[in-house]
Amino acid sequence: MIQDERAQANSACYVEDDLCSNPNIDRTIGDVISARLSRRTAMQAATAILATKCLGSSVSAVEKLSVSTKSEPKASPSSLTFGEIEHGDDGLVHVADGYEAQPLLRWGDAIISGAPVFDVLKQSPASQSQQFGYNCDFTAFLPLPDAKDGSQRGLLCVNHEYTDTNLMFPNILDSSSLENLTREQVAIELAAHGHSVVEIQRHRGRWQVVRSSSFNRRITALDTIMKVTGPAAGHKRLQTSADPTGKEVLGTLNNCAGGVTPWGTMLICEENFNNYFSGDPSTTSEARNHFRYGVSGPSQFSPAWAKHFPRFDVEQEPHEPNRFGWVVEFDPYDPNSQPVKRTALGRCKHEGAGVVVNHDGRVVIYCGDDERFDYVYRFVTDRAYDPHNREANRDLLDDGVLHVAQFDEAGTIRWLPLVYGQGPLTAENDFHCQGDVLIETRRAADLLGATPMDRPEDVEPSPTTGHVFVILTNNSKRKPEQIDAVNPRPDNQHGHILELIPPMTSNGVDHTADEFAWEVFLRAGDPQEASHGARYHESISRNGWLSSPDNAAFDNQGRIWLTTDSDHKLTGFGDGIYACDTTGPGRALPKLFFRGPRGSEVSGICISPDNKTLFVSVQHPGEEEGSDFQKPSTRWPDNRPGMPPRPTVVAITHKAGKPIGS
Ligand code: FEO
Ligand code: CA
Ligand code: CA
Repeated sequence: MIQDERAQANSACYVEDDLCSNPNIDRTIGDVISARLSRRTAMQAATAILATKCLGSSVSAVEKLSVSTKSEPKASPSSLTFGEIEHGDDGLVHVADGYEAQPLLRWGDAIISGAPVFDVLKQSPASQSQQFGYNCDFTAFLPLPDAKDGSQRGLLCVNHEYTDTNLMFPNILDSSSLENLTREQVAIELAAHGHSVVEIQRHRGRWQVVRSSSFNRRITALDTIMKVTGPAAGHKRLQTSADPTGKEVLGTLNNCAGGVTPWGTMLICEENFNNYFSGDPSTTSEARNHFRYGVSGPSQFSPAWAKHFPRFDVEQEPHEPNRFGWVVEFDPYDPNSQPVKRTALGRCKHEGAGVVVNHDGRVVIYCGDDERFDYVYRFVTDRAYDPHNREANRDLLDDGVLHVAQFDEAGTIRWLPLVYGQGPLTAENDFHCQGDVLIETRRAADLLGATPMDRPEDVEPSPTTGHVFVILTNNSKRKPEQIDAVNPRPDNQHGHILELIPPMTSNGVDHTADEFAWEVFLRAGDPQEASHGARYHESISRNGWLSSPDNAAFDNQGRIWLTTDSDHKLTGFGDGIYACDTTGPGRALPKLFFRGPRGSEVSGICISPDNKTLFVSVQHPGEEEGSDFQKPSTRWPDNRPGMPPRPTVVAITHKAGKPIGS
């Protein structure tokens, strides 16, 4: 849900994730107008260049996009043959004909052996620490090495981004209820954050949880101690009274999306960490830094957090926010492994981590910083991945170069390195080491001249073309004088998707190149509404248009599966999953496959290796105006009196066992 609505609808759990704190967003009107006037010529030039230096031939297809819909039915050019469902908004989930959507893991489900059965009226921090957490987001399915079929048994790894206090607990009715949360209630919320690892198996066509599995694990914000590594580890700006070393952090917060490394570890990304902190940051030594990340006090989450856990009070612990906003790596195959905050990847409101192995073995990770007018990043490891020695890759992510994207009007991106001592990243600008550059990644990127974007969410490389898709969810604050070719609409309420095209070399796609090409893949919104300026394939149906794309996954044919996080009042329908070809005659033609219940966002999505199960998180069902524990707008998935809605991971399969998309 976008934040303006969430703020009104649900003050008890308002999580501000699209502030603008970038002071560096103004361009001259003359710059923009001249850039726009030359855009068409530039696009043609870019297309010609790309045809000679890039993989694939899909780029020129963008010029065929249309804002119109066809009135006469004809055979769909899409490779996706499922029957599209209709837009709508009700209390249930809907999926294409022939498919089953099975609620698999719900908030509160016991996942650790011996965990108590969920009782919504008898919650405790101890029980929540052994049960599936709240607001499931990122999902990843990892086969188990000894499984006979790597798509029938494996580990489902799921982030728990945040909590909806007024849907979790009875009688949270107003801001004073929030202020009066007990220490135990806040501890329950801390335990409901983080991540779950759960062994699952498919039996007679149904997925089930293996509750006795020794792999099952909860990582929480309450009691999981994490190590800090990389250039910022031990920096004095990471030191607190509880951790004078600056190398050990209690927990992880607001884990949104993530990624999986080629060596089978999870990357879980800390996003809107600023929301948890209270106190006046302007009185601290970190005032400028905290302002840039939106740590502005008072807490937009609940002041009770700082009351009961003083580390969330920036006046008492001014460095504590610096210990969040990182990418966390852990090994799901070792339930005792300690999660590690990898500072080399920078600090921002990380949406996710799109991982790819370059042709030379180096690992490249793409990240979006989800805030209005913030940036797209790329990290390149120094060393190559060793596919034959898992242990050799253990600390691969501690050494490498972080870059930020600068887009130009002619269709080129330049990746600018964030390296201490280079360009403006020196003592003159208060950067005294690489740790400073990483702790203040945003300010470093500002100084380099990065391009302010329309809220970058997932950034995912296609497994078939190597092109990288950047999901820009929306930006209603972009003014007409702030548009550019890569963020082409003012008041961008529906978002758009970019396609980045790395150069092709004789050895393969080069994700480490200094320059890529870029193109707009689609512009979301209603193609029937001229004011939206939407652009899709000309055969877009009345149910295929989407708003505020957020997360993405590719199937084994290179088709993109998009989930949305939109303003339901704006669109008139709920969030869902849209599938779309990225190449061929059906390029940029989304089809609606699934939609979630009232108030929900459809978020983390992944597909099993055999392409026959799609796992998706249905986050915050019932989170809307007037909806709370007593009177939720839906009680999905249990649909029984007294039980509030429960964030749930759904497993979608074809009833006849066909691949997803059939
Ligand atoms: Fe947690 Fe950017 O969504
Ligand atoms: Ca998201
Ligand atoms: Ca979002």
